[in-house]
Amino acid sequence: MEQLIQKLTGIYGPSGREELVAAEIETLLAGKVDSIRRDALGNLICEKKGTDPNGKRIMLAAHMDQIGLVVTHVEKEGYLRVSNIGGISPANSRTRRVKFANGVMGVLHEQPLKPGETTSLRTFYIDIGAANEAEALSLISLGDVAVYAEDTFKMGAHRLASPAMDDRMACALLVSILQKLPPIKDTVIAVFTTQEEVGLRGATTSAYSVQPDVGIALDVTLTGDTPEERRVAVNLGEGPTIVVMNARSISNPALVNELHAAAAKAGVAVQREVLPFGGTDAGAMQLSRGGMPVCTVSVPCRYVHSACEVVDMRDVEGAEKVLLGYLGA
Ligand code: CO
Ligand code: ZN
Repeated sequence: MEQLIQKLTGIYGPSGREELVAAEIETLLAGKVDSIRRDALGNLICEKKGTDPNGKRIMLAAHMDQIGLVVTHVEKEGYLRVSNIGGISPANSRTRRVKFANGVMGVLHEQPLKPGETTSLRTFYIDIGAANEAEALSLISLGDVAVYAEDTFKMGAHRLASPAMDDRMACALLVSILQKLPPIKDTVIAVFTTQEEVGLRGATTSAYSVQPDVGIALDVTLTGDTPEERRVAVNLGEGPTIVVMNARSISNPALVNELHAAAAKAGVAVQREVLPFGGTDAGAMQLSRGGMPVCTVSVPCRYVHSACEVVDMRDVEGAEKVLLGYLGA
């Protein structure tokens, strides 16, 4: 699993540019599912048929996209001005190494603030080593997207940090589940979604076409176990979370109970999550067609939407056991 996460977090894939991630996942799942297709938004839809023709259709969603910075204009001196793709936080962006799809590297830096000026992405620029506007435009084009270029690294005995942990960790988790899943009665449709970070867009269209009976999103969630951070009652390393609600969805209580029962049966400690803000692909699935019961299984993650998003491998492995148990494997 750790190797799988290392592999998928290393791939470039901001919202709307998920093709390389999808290609790698398609390779990893060759022969493990009954069908694989991509839709117009780039969602990778992998179906494994159940043994019971009257079984349920269960959609498991993990988003492939990561947050990024889109070039809005280039200054005479060759500096790039940027806007956000998804929840880029200025506080997490000072003097960061960034990379573009074509391999161009740069430094994201904040200029000195004028009196009364507040920090925002408008006060940031990317230096790609160009001497002027023409040289910069020979390296990149307006609309190109940079992502944090930090490498994935190990921390302590069980932890892994990467800028793309949200949500490649869950892509790896879903790949691993499909690789291990024996024949079960229900049909599982694993959807590796696109454009989650800009408003759950891939999950919106894929849930409509897949027509599941139940939807479960796999994602990271914030923790409340770092200095002065007490907004959520979730701790790293104390197990995956079963989401009761967040700002985009209220989980189906029966489904929440089924997931808790699966966790108990598998002997996995889980946490109950109530997140007063944020959302996951469950928010889109819940509202598809006539609606469906949804829930999110999350892996606690420190420093979400930074260049060093930290997860604990024991939580990832716990999430895998809970989901395999829920599916009846
Ligand atoms: Co995110
Ligand atoms: Zn996410």
